[in-house]
Amino acid sequence: MARQHFDPMGTTAVITGASSGLGVEFAHEFARRGADLVLVARRQERLEALAVDLAERYGTASTVIPLDLTAPDAVDELVRDIESRGIRVGSLVNNAGFASYGRFGDIDRRRLDEEVQLNVSALTQLSRAFWGPLTAHSRTSPGNGALVNIASVVAFQPVPFMGVYAASKAYVLSLTEALWYEAKGTGLKVTALCPGPTATEFTEVAGNGDLFFRNPQTAEQVIETAFRALDARSTPPSIVSGVGNAAGASLVGLVPKRSLLTALGRATTPKPRA
Ligand SMILES: NC(=O)c1ccc[n+]([C@@H]2O[C@H](COP(=O)([O-])OP(=O)(O)OC[C@H]3O[C@@H](n4cnc5c(N)ncnc54)[C@H](OP(=O)(O)O)[C@@H]3O)[C@@H](O)[C@H]2O)c1
Repeated sequence: MARQHFDPMGTTAVITGASSGLGVEFAHEFARRGADLVLVARRQERLEALAVDLAERYGTASTVIPLDLTAPDAVDELVRDIESRGIRVGSLVNNAGFASYGRFGDIDRRRLDEEVQLNVSALTQLSRAFWGPLTAHSRTSPGNGALVNIASVVAFQPVPFMGVYAASKAYVLSLTEALWYEAKGTGLKVTALCPGPTATEFTEVAGNGDLFFRNPQTAEQVIETAFRALDARSTPPSIVSGVGNAAGASLVGLVPKRSLLTALGRATTPKPRA
């Protein structure tokens, strides 16, 4: 077996969006590797149930912080809460995110605002707020800490009818790849995880049914990809989950934009309601 170059044993990982889908699986893998956790999302009961499950399975401690990350001052509140508990953060997974699907003019403006707030602003502010602690931690224990930001395969091209979401993930990819470079020499592993369609609550929240989800990956498969990247001696700036998704992402720049948008737009056009 290849050597694992990421060892968060004895550290604490903050995971946003830990009440469902990829966030739950991230929490399991960090806990399996011996990390304590700070679990953040709005649904407190789910976080508490997860904390109990992780303690029973792996003997790790979890701090549950129920929070709406789109609320004004939510990021400051989270940072203060973590500091006041004396928790030293070794890893941060900015996983909370959602999409809106539909015709641009039909989507509620407040929802779009919240989408940008969560996918872009909260992720940026949390990365910045914990940058000092994360890099300081990794300087003393290289390879024990990580910043993982969840982008998407849609980060590689615009997507009609999910324009704001795809743009938000393009932002996440670009920012995180820049931070990968800035983290050089600190020992902090930085990567943007780009999942393709994955079976979680994502489509239900987006309201787009089974549109892109004919052969979804499982959340476990995506998390395996994430930890493969973290375990590499040199963690890549970004990683796409799934061979087919990776091939698609690498080819997309070769297709003329007009043809790409036409094909994508045909596939994503909302179906008339019966
Ligand atoms: N599933 C896919 O096909 C796919 C593909 C590419 C990328 N992604 C990305 O993967 C990440 C995880 O999504 P998922 O697939 O696991 O979807 P999911 O099952 O819907 O989970 C989303 C998580 O985000 C949390 N969240 C949503 N709004 C929040 C808010 N205002 N404040 C705090 N937490 C909030 C949710 O918790 P609460 O509702 O309890 O707050 C939940 O824990 C997202 O960034 C998503 O964009 C997903």
